[in-house]
Amino acid sequence: MSIVIDNEKRVFTLRTKNTTYQMMADELGGLVHLYYGSAVDGCAMDHLVQRYSMSFAPCPTDIGMLRNYSFDYLPLEYSSWGSGDYRTTAVKVTFPDGSNALDLRYDSHKTFKGKTPLAGLPAVYADEDEAETLEITLKDRFSEVYVVLSYCVLPEFDAIARSVKVINRTGAELVVNSALSAMADFRSDEYDLLTFGGRWARERNMERIPVHNGKIAVESRRGASSHHQNPFIVLCDKTATEDQGCCYGLSFIYSGSFTAFAETDQMDQTRLAIGLNPDNFNWKLDDGETFQTPEAVFVCGTEGFGSMSRNFHKLYREHLCRGKYKHARRPILINNWEATYFKFDEEKLFRIAEQAQKLGVEMLVMDDGWFGKRENDHSGLGDWFVNEQKLKGGLNPLVERINSIGMKFGIWFEPEMISEDSDLYRAHPDWCLHMPGREPLRSRIQLTLDMSRADVRDYLYERLYSILSSANIAYVKWDMNRSMAVVYSMLLPAEKQGEVYHRYILGLYELLERIESAFPDVLFEGCSGGGGRFDPGMLYYHPQIWCSDDSDAIERLEIQYGTSFCYPVSTMGAHVSAVPNHQTGRVTPLNTRGVVAMSGTFGYEMDLGKMTEEEKEEVKVQIETFKKYYDLISYGDYYRLSNPAENHRYTAWEFVSEDKKRALLNYVSVLPQANPAPRIIKLRGLDPDTCYEVEGLKLTGAALMQGGILMPVMSGDHQALQMEIRAL
Ligand code: DGJ
Repeated sequence: MSIVIDNEKRVFTLRTKNTTYQMMADELGGLVHLYYGSAVDGCAMDHLVQRYSMSFAPCPTDIGMLRNYSFDYLPLEYSSWGSGDYRTTAVKVTFPDGSNALDLRYDSHKTFKGKTPLAGLPAVYADEDEAETLEITLKDRFSEVYVVLSYCVLPEFDAIARSVKVINRTGAELVVNSALSAMADFRSDEYDLLTFGGRWARERNMERIPVHNGKIAVESRRGASSHHQNPFIVLCDKTATEDQGCCYGLSFIYSGSFTAFAETDQMDQTRLAIGLNPDNFNWKLDDGETFQTPEAVFVCGTEGFGSMSRNFHKLYREHLCRGKYKHARRPILINNWEATYFKFDEEKLFRIAEQAQKLGVEMLVMDDGWFGKRENDHSGLGDWFVNEQKLKGGLNPLVERINSIGMKFGIWFEPEMISEDSDLYRAHPDWCLHMPGREPLRSRIQLTLDMSRADVRDYLYERLYSILSSANIAYVKWDMNRSMAVVYSMLLPAEKQGEVYHRYILGLYELLERIESAFPDVLFEGCSGGGGRFDPGMLYYHPQIWCSDDSDAIERLEIQYGTSFCYPVSTMGAHVSAVPNHQTGRVTPLNTRGVVAMSGTFGYEMDLGKMTEEEKEEVKVQIETFKKYYDLISYGDYYRLSNPAENHRYTAWEFVSEDKKRALLNYVSVLPQANPAPRIIKLRGLDPDTCYEVEGLKLTGAALMQGGILMPVMSGDHQALQMEIRAL
C-alpha cells in the first residue's frame, strides 16, 4: 500500500519504493508537513513539530487566548496568503469586496487507485496497479473556498505527482491571484539547491548553490518555460553527490511562465515550491467553478543525483511521453537548416537527401523556408502554404521523390507565430498578442499569435491538417522562436486579461492534442530556438525536443549534462553538424561529434555530400553504431561520470542495460595534456559479481566500479571514444 492513513492521528503517509512522505492534519486542521526522505515506515514523525509562543507571530482565534499556534513558523503542505504565514505562500484569492485572506484547514480526504488525468493539461499517467492517489480537501475557515491537494504516489519511481484545485462555492465570483502546484516545508536549511539556467544556445547549465537566509527563485515570465531557466529544481543534502545523499527534484509539467523557489525561514526551515508564475496572473473564478493547476512531480533520490535522474528518466519516458514513438525506433534524420538556411529548392533538398541516404540516413527534414514568402526571417510566418517558387510542383512531388529513394520526409512549422509581412497578418492584424493603442514588441521580426483564441487555433489546425494530409509526412518539427511580450488578447474582457498567459498555453496544448491525434503515426519534435521550451509539458506531446541551437559537440557536453538531471536521453534532439561549427567556429573531430550526438536522438545537420570519402565511411559506421546501441542508449540507465562544467579536461558518461549485462562508456578527452597522469574512469551500475569483457580485458563489475578502467592517452583536442562492456 503506498498510502497509509492513521485516521486517529490524521497522519497521511505516502510510501514509495525507497522513500516516505508524511503530513498531518493537526487538532486545528492545519495541514503540517512532517517528513520527506528515505523510508521510515511505521512511524508518525509528529514528534518533530514544535509549537512556540512567538512574538510577532499571528495566531488564529480558534486557539483561544493561547499564543502557541501560528502559520508563521509551522512546516506546512500548502500555505495561503493572509493566514499569518509571511513566507511566500502557495495560494491567494481575492473576494468581490477586495478582501484576500484564506485560512485553510483540513476538511476531508479520499484515496483511489490509479490517477485521474488533468483536463486540458499534460500530466503523468498510470494504471490502477501503478499508482495510488490521495486527495486532501482543505477549506477556508470563513468562506466556501475549497482547495483540493492531490498526491499521486508512483512507488516504482520514488515519485509523487502533485496538483491543486481551487473550488469556488461562495455564491459569488472571485479571482485566483496565485495557485502553485506543489509546496513542502523541509525541516532544515542545511541544503544546496541545483538550478538549470542559461540563455539561447546555452541552456540548462547546472548550478549548485547553498540555500541561504531568504529566497532563491528561478522563474520565467516569457510565456514559455524558456532557455533562461528550466521548470526544475533540486534541493539536496550538502553532502549529496552523484551516488550518495538525499536529493529532492521538483519538476513542473508546464510549458509557460513559472516560478520555482527555495526559501529559508526564521526557524531555519526550507520551503520548496513550484507552479504558475503569479506575475500578471489573475484567474476569474465564477461561483461553482474550479481552477485546476498544472502538475508538479517530486522525485526523491535516496542515493544521490543519479538515482533521482534515473527515476525521472523512466517516469517521463514511460508515463509522460505518449504515442507510437514512445517505443518505436525513431528514424535517423538529416535536417537541412545548417546546410542551407533559407536558401534551398527541391533539387538542393533532394541532393542532400540522396547523399545522406547512401550513408544510411533514414529521413530528410525540411526546415524553415518552404512556405509563404520566406527568404529570410522577416516575413511569411502564418502563411502555411507551399512556396512553389522554391518547391516547384508543390510538396508532394518532392516527398514522393524522397520516399522513392527509401527515405521518410519531415517538415518544419512555427504555428504560433506571425510575420507582419504575411497575408495572414494583413487579413487578421488582431490575431497577434498586442495591447490596444500600443505597438507590439518585435522579436526575430515576428509577433506571437494569440493562442487563447479558438479562431486562431482553428485556422492553424486547418492549415496543419491540410499540409500534413497533402503528402506522406512522417515527422514535424514544431518550432517557436520568441518570448511573449505585451501580452493581451483582443477577445477577452478587461477583467480576464490576467488569464492570457495561461490561456495561451492551454490553447497550445489543445491544438497539439487535436493535430497529433489526427496524425498518430507522425513523429513530432518540439523546438524553441533550440531548447527554449524543453519541459515535461512539451514531452507529453512530443517525445523529443531539439536540445539547443548550439550544435557544437563540446558545448553540447555541458548542455546535455544539465538536461540529463531531469530529462531522458531519448528526448534530447542532437545532431552532428559541420565544422567549423556555425555557433562557435570550433573544429571537432567527426568521431567526437558522433559520440556526443548519439547520446540523444541522433541525426545530421549538414550537407553530407561535402564530406571526403573517408568521412562518409565514418558516417556509415556512426549510423551502424547508433543502431547497434539504440536500445541501450534510449532505454538504458544513464550515469553521469563527470561534470563538464567543473572538469574541463574530460567528460564521461555511461549507459547500462536494465539487466546489467551490457554497458556503453562514452568518453571525451576535451583538452589533452603533455606527460599526462593516468586517467582512470570508474564505471557505475554494473553487477559487482558478474564478469564483464571490455577492450579484451575480463574483469568483474566490482573491479570495474571500484578500480575502474584506464583511458588511453589521446593526442589532439576534443578526442572521443566509446567502449562496450559485456557480461560474459
Ligand atoms: C530555430 C531552430 O532551433 C532551428 O533549428 C531552426 O529550425 C530555426 N529556428 C529555423 O528558423
